[in-house]
Amino acid sequence: MASDSNNNDTPHGKIEKNIFILLCCIVVVAAVGGMIEILPLFKKEVSIEVVGGMRPYTPLELAGFNIYKREGCYNCHSQQIRKIAEDVERYGHYSLAAESMYDHPFAWGSKRTGPDLARIGERYSDDWHIQHLYDPRSLVPQSIMPGYPFLLNSILQTSEIQRNMEILKVLGVPYTDDDIAKYMSDIEVQLGLEIKQEMIDDFTKRYPGVKIRKFNNKSSSITELDALIAHLQSIGTKVDLKSNKGIDW
Ligand code: HEC
Repeated sequence: MASDSNNNDTPHGKIEKNIFILLCCIVVVAAVGGMIEILPLFKKEVSIEVVGGMRPYTPLELAGFNIYKREGCYNCHSQQIRKIAEDVERYGHYSLAAESMYDHPFAWGSKRTGPDLARIGERYSDDWHIQHLYDPRSLVPQSIMPGYPFLLNSILQTSEIQRNMEILKVLGVPYTDDDIAKYMSDIEVQLGLEIKQEMIDDFTKRYPGVKIRKFNNKSSSITELDALIAHLQSIGTKVDLKSNKGIDW
């Protein structure tokens, strides 16, 4: 047809009719577009919104987060509420990047055999968690979650927490030397075992909004369950969600 031969003469017509030139052009355009979209995300300031209230884990919460990972809770539980209505209506405000910026590695998970836990903090009492982790079916008869009864009385190993904090500091978590040096007394203060007011004030100043109490009231020792419940009760409660202005992409 006449219009075809006309098209062939234009540069655009040549590109469209030569598969190799067309492929090269697609690759170039996709590569440039991809770089413009992806490269800025490597800069933390662009991809993580600035929100009030976010702070690193206390040593006790950090120990609890390590137990969460050790026991593989992330295999059944996600910690990422998506922006879609089903998620937000069931679990609450969608997750912000800032909320997991101090997690190394993060525990977003990839599968929900159990519910998402990104806003589990303070939804249930400590006693509920103690009972649920001890024997999930005593509270939710149809539950398929395994019990973790051994956590109730196992003594928390604290010897590696300090080194853990030092490594996290290298990775960019803003722990000060003071935070790292005081890790053990901070654990005792958070569990309410140390009652000197100036120590409590110093602790709450360094970790604003922290919850201070004996999380596992079934044992007088410092147990793994204390750490795990301290962690669970803090998840999703740190950030002041009203201060989230989002990211200006
Ligand atoms: C085999 C999968 C599986 C594993 C592993 C697992 N869970 Fe669960 N979890 C579930 C299921 C299913 C439910 C929902 C039924 C229930 O409440 O027991 C649940 C419920 C929960 C809830 C209550 C959530 C809510 O919103 O009601 C918490 C808290 C929880 N799990 C914590 C943990 C912790 C902490 C660990 C690791 C020590 C863990 N789970 C390991 C499957 C799992």
